[in-house]
Amino acid sequence: MFITLEGGEGAGKSTQARRLAAHLAQRGAVLLTREPGGSPGAEATRALLLSRGWDPRAEMLLHFAARREHVARSIAPALAAGAAVVCDRFADSTYAYQVGGQGGDAALWRALVDGTLGGVWPARTFLLDLPVEVGLARAAARGETNRYEALGRDFHARVRDAFHGLATREPARFRVVDASLPLDDVTAAILSAL
Ligand code: TMP
Repeated sequence: MFITLEGGEGAGKSTQARRLAAHLAQRGAVLLTREPGGSPGAEATRALLLSRGWDPRAEMLLHFAARREHVARSIAPALAAGAAVVCDRFADSTYAYQVGGQGGDAALWRALVDGTLGGVWPARTFLLDLPVEVGLARAAARGETNRYEALGRDFHARVRDAFHGLATREPARFRVVDASLPLDDVTAAILSAL
């Protein structure tokens, strides 16, 4: 089973991904991974993406180049071997950030999903949702500001709206979880929904 965690900044996706993977590991093999990144080439592309600004289409292509590499070298082989895969962000993040946040081309996003992922698509996606101000404050308190976090409140409000739009369009795949709850409550909500 391929499970993704999505959401804006400071939503606690990495913590919840670790906990979910630990839970699933009681039953069998699990690959815990993240995007951008998750394989050597994709991690190198992550460094490129986070180090400077890009032309918007180039940026979407870079996210999908990293994703294709990650899918081909890590995710698809793990699924083929019968492992569960838990991924911290996936293609929905490109829709939310590059289409919703940056005003990029939704048709290009769709074409890249259809043309580069070989049908690899999450069975379940947890959208960890919380108010933009709360998420940005949490991210700032962690002291790790990347260039997306620095894009400001309006950008991140568009990202949140775009995630909600995706969840509304695909209710069978998405579960929206209130990420402003205490960590243990968020974990419990995820495990019970699973
Ligand atoms: P992270 O903080 O969750 O590791 O992700 C790094 C940043 O990359 C985060 O600010 C969101 C951004 N991002 C995109 O803009 N598009 C994408 O497709 C992905 C996977 C991440």
